[in-house]
Amino acid sequence: MTTSNRVTIRDVARQAGVSVATVSRVLAGDYPVLAATRNKVIRAVRELDYVPNAHARALSAARPGAIAIVVNSVAVPYYAYIAQGVEEQAAQEGRLSLICTHGGDTGRELSIVQLLREQRAEAVILVGSVIVDDEYRKRMTEYAHALAAAGSRLVLCGRPPLGEGVPALVVGFDNTGGAHAVTAHLLSAGHRRILYLGLRPGHTTSDSRVAGYRSALAEHGVPGDPGLEVEAEFSRDAGYAAMNGRLAAGPPDFTAVFAGNDLVAAGAIQSLREHGLRVPEDMSIVGYDDVPPAQDLGLTTVHLPHDELGRAAVRLALGRTTTSPMTLGTHIVVRDSVRPRLAAPLGS
Ligand code: HPA
Repeated sequence: MTTSNRVTIRDVARQAGVSVATVSRVLAGDYPVLAATRNKVIRAVRELDYVPNAHARALSAARPGAIAIVVNSVAVPYYAYIAQGVEEQAAQEGRLSLICTHGGDTGRELSIVQLLREQRAEAVILVGSVIVDDEYRKRMTEYAHALAAAGSRLVLCGRPPLGEGVPALVVGFDNTGGAHAVTAHLLSAGHRRILYLGLRPGHTTSDSRVAGYRSALAEHGVPGDPGLEVEAEFSRDAGYAAMNGRLAAGPPDFTAVFAGNDLVAAGAIQSLREHGLRVPEDMSIVGYDDVPPAQDLGLTTVHLPHDELGRAAVRLALGRTTTSPMTLGTHIVVRDSVRPRLAAPLGS
């Protein structure tokens, strides 16, 4: 190709039907551009074979970037199943996905976001329960603006929105509705003393589950009892330890347990068994999330659309949908861990 018939940025802009400034932004990847516009520009660049050598770097920046999902751990089923949804949708969209873990360390989270920004990730999806305080809001707002300035998008998954003017997209699920429904399921079976095992004051996921539990009790005219709300992290070990602690204090003063998630339920069931209590004959129990080992335990639980959460996060990031905040539904999965209450609870 000679200099005289060399394709220019103007040719690309004309072919794509956009301004020269837009082409330059897409190539530099340093400014947010609508996915549809970006695709038009990239197509025109390819069709015209726009100066591949001189601008190889710019062209590589114009290629679709990776979609990154940032989670606490990949060994926790909740995160693993959402990551699976992200990976499937990203692959369908011709994107590579990156899975990053921070182990709950905000310093590590910050360096991951910075690295992803430098790598020109197309989107960064942050997943999981948080404590929403001023520090968190400030940190997320900074991430959102920094990523937007680099042409990338921040998506919050399973977390509340940040507020007006912050360029972050949000997909969540009906956490409170699921907790209300599963508590109502226990109440319908005649249970009145229901232990909530999984209190984590300030944590968004736990707080909304407790809210659903309390509202179902109130709706059925059952007075709330703070003595029946027990703290536990969302892990098997925490569920086991918390139930051990409770049973060490004497015979149970409850006939059913609502575990904060299925892992907590698994730990609690082990403790109940070790104390000679059979599930569901002596004690009913329900969980939340519908992840392994819920099925193997025959645990009645609340199904979270993990896969769809991940897929929706990618669709939002790529501008395939503009509904944000988006709330996905939850529903109960009835298995065999709840029995009708036959006798008055021990100790009451
Ligand atoms: N962490 C672990 N398990 C969960 C979460 C979370 O943030 N939300 C729902 N289940």
